[in-house]
Formats: sequence, C-alpha cells, structure tokens
Amino acid sequence: MISRREVMAVMAMPVVSSHVARALAVNEASLRSRAAARGLFYGAAVQISHLIKDAAFASAFAQQCGALVPEWELKWGAVEPVRGQHDFSRVDQLYDIAARNKQLFRGHTLLWSRNAPPWFNEELDKTASLDAILSHIKRTCEHLRGRVFQWDVLNEAIEPRDGLPGDLRGALLYKIFGESYIAESFRAARAADHDAALYYNDYGVDYAEPESRIRRRAILKLLSSLKAKGVPLDGLGIQGHLRVGRKFNPDEFRTFLRDVAALGLHIVITEFDVGDRHLPPDPDLRDRLVAEHARMYLDVVLDEPAVKGVMTWGLSDKFSWLSTHPITRRSDGLRIRGLPLDEYMQPKPLWRAMAEAFDRAPLR
Ligand code: G3I
Repeated sequence: MISRREVMAVMAMPVVSSHVARALAVNEASLRSRAAARGLFYGAAVQISHLIKDAAFASAFAQQCGALVPEWELKWGAVEPVRGQHDFSRVDQLYDIAARNKQLFRGHTLLWSRNAPPWFNEELDKTASLDAILSHIKRTCEHLRGRVFQWDVLNEAIEPRDGLPGDLRGALLYKIFGESYIAESFRAARAADHDAALYYNDYGVDYAEPESRIRRRAILKLLSSLKAKGVPLDGLGIQGHLRVGRKFNPDEFRTFLRDVAALGLHIVITEFDVGDRHLPPDPDLRDRLVAEHARMYLDVVLDEPAVKGVMTWGLSDKFSWLSTHPITRRSDGLRIRGLPLDEYMQPKPLWRAMAEAFDRAPLR
C-alpha cells in the first residue's frame, strides 16, 4: 500500500521537465537531484549540533540531501530523558531546517531497546511499561503528524544469537512483553498518524554470509507474520552498513529484496555507509574500493522497484559514527572514508558511484 504521505512526498519531488532539466545541469553535483530525476529520494542522517556549528557542512547538506533524518535527537531517550518531561526542541529545530531546505523529514526511531530512556530500563512493571511505550509513540507521532513522511517505528528487534522464538532480540522489551509489543507499537503509530509510512528497520542482511542469511530469514518471518495479522506495516528499512572485504552475492540479495516486495512492502536503505577499517591507510585506494563496493550493492538495490530511496548515515566523513564506534573504527585512528563527501565537504569516488547508480536506476 502506498501511503498518502508517500504519494505526497513523491509528488513534492522535482519532476524532470524543461526548466528542471536545466536545473539538473546546474545540480549535476547534487545527489538529491540525481535521485529525484529517477523518482527516488536521497538524504542523510544529521545532528543538530553539526548543522548549527559548521556552516560549510550545513550548506553541503542543503545542496546534496532531499531528506533529513535525526541521527539521535528523535529517539525516546532524547525526547523524554526524565519520565513525563518531553523535549522536542531539537527535533523541531531539525524539522525547521529540513522545511527550509525543502527536504523530506524521516522519523527514526520510535522504539529501540538500546535507546529507551534510563527510567524505562529501571524495570517498570509490565502494565506501566506497555502504557509508557504506547504513550510515547502516541505523543511523538502526534507531535510530528503531517511533518514525517516515513517512521522507523521499531529498530533492530531481531537477534538470532539470543536463541529466542522468532529470533527476536532478548532485550527488556521482549522480556516484559514477548513479541506482543511489536504489533502494538505499529498499531499505536498508525492510530496517531494515518498518513506516514510505517517501517521496520534492521541491519546485517547484506552479505553472502551465514549471519546475513539467518537474519534475512528471521526478518522475512517477522514481516510475514505482521502482515498476516493485518498489522499496519508499509516498509522495511535496510540499514546498509557495509564494509569493504565482505562477500556480496547479487542474486542472493536480489532475491531477498524481491521476497520483501512480494509482501507488498516498500524498501528504503536507511543508514548507508561503507566501512574501510581493514584496508591499508592510502586514501585513494580506500576511496576506490569503497566506491566499487557501493556500486556493486546499489546496482542491485536500485534495480528493485520497491526501493524508494537511500539515506546515508551521515553525509561527510567529518561526522561519521564509523570513525568513533568501537566495532567500526580503524586501529590506526584514521578517519573512515565511508560517506559521499570527505571531511572538507568535497565529493569522493563514493559520491560519483552513488550519483551514477541513481542515474542507472529504472524510473519509478
Ligand atoms: O546525549 C548527548 C547530548 O546531551 C549532547 O547534547 C549531544 C551533543 O552532540 O550528544 C549526545 O550524545 C550522543 C549522541 O550520539 C551524539 O553524539 C548520545 O549520547 C549517543 O547515544 C548518540 O549515539 C547515537 C546512537 O545511534 C544511539 O542513539 C549515534 O549518534 C548514532 O549514529 C547511532 O545510530 C544508530 C542508529 O540509530 C541505528 N542503527 C545503528 C546506528 C549506529 O549505531
């Protein structure tokens, strides 16, 4: 089902006509225009502090991105750090910037076991916990109603290593509710926002490796089960945190995308970036291999009509989580070069690979 919000969002995108064709020529250096020319959207995750403090970054973000997703400011722990005290000020600032830049605004994420506020994790009793979750979802969706075009309602609920039924993650949410909180969360989001497209978002499905295969199976099972129960679910967010050197099989991944689409779901690559932690330090070599890896992946992804857009998790290497997170950073301390722009806001080979992948994509 294409939600009204998504239809409006696509209609808001620049349609290629004569005056726009000229603009495209001007915007040759813009991923947002290259994506929009094919009926897709491109955007990035961003932190309000970076937009406020770094004018060059803010300008590049406005030029390159057709969509904005808050990197952390819209998570439960950030909007209700103290029970009952709600702070949407940073989110509203980010929305205002997106509106000024004529960018779509993507909601991430209503519920993630890792980002519940500290007071929630103090093991509230079951009734209080479910009320707290559903109130949070209702309040947040109502606050942003009419401004968010897609919601990541639930993030990273699968963890096959936990050995639980349905390969669900054995975090506090599961411990308290079993799997019931999942359907309840989507229903609460739909009740509070009739138009936004509702997505399930997860990682680790990209490669021809045992763990990816297990995770793909688990996610398909979860999505099928939710659809069979009539849960309001419109799409799957595939995070797309790639790393050069891992084994990709185009046919395997194409089949997964088709299986998701066969459930009537849309797909967005929601957190695209390409790690280079095991590569030699030479930046030109790293840039070339990162671009080649991205091209291989995006050519498969963008060939699937159910794919509606790509969000990178950051726009510039200057502000990438990859360079600081313990599981992704390089041992030599060099900045990871996994995003379209370098630390000086200059396009890299990855930018070119993404732009040309958009150009090759079938028109939506
Ligand atoms: O909390 C402080 C806040 O008080 C301060 O004003 C602000 C200043 O910038 O920083 C805040 O600190 C941290 C924030 O990142 C900014 O660096 C938060 O404590 C920290 O939790 C937050 O981490 C984010 C993390 O998700 C957890 O929310 C990362 O930026 C973000 O890149 C990461 O993103 C996740 C996706 O949501 C899900 N998929 C994986 C991805 C990478 O881990």
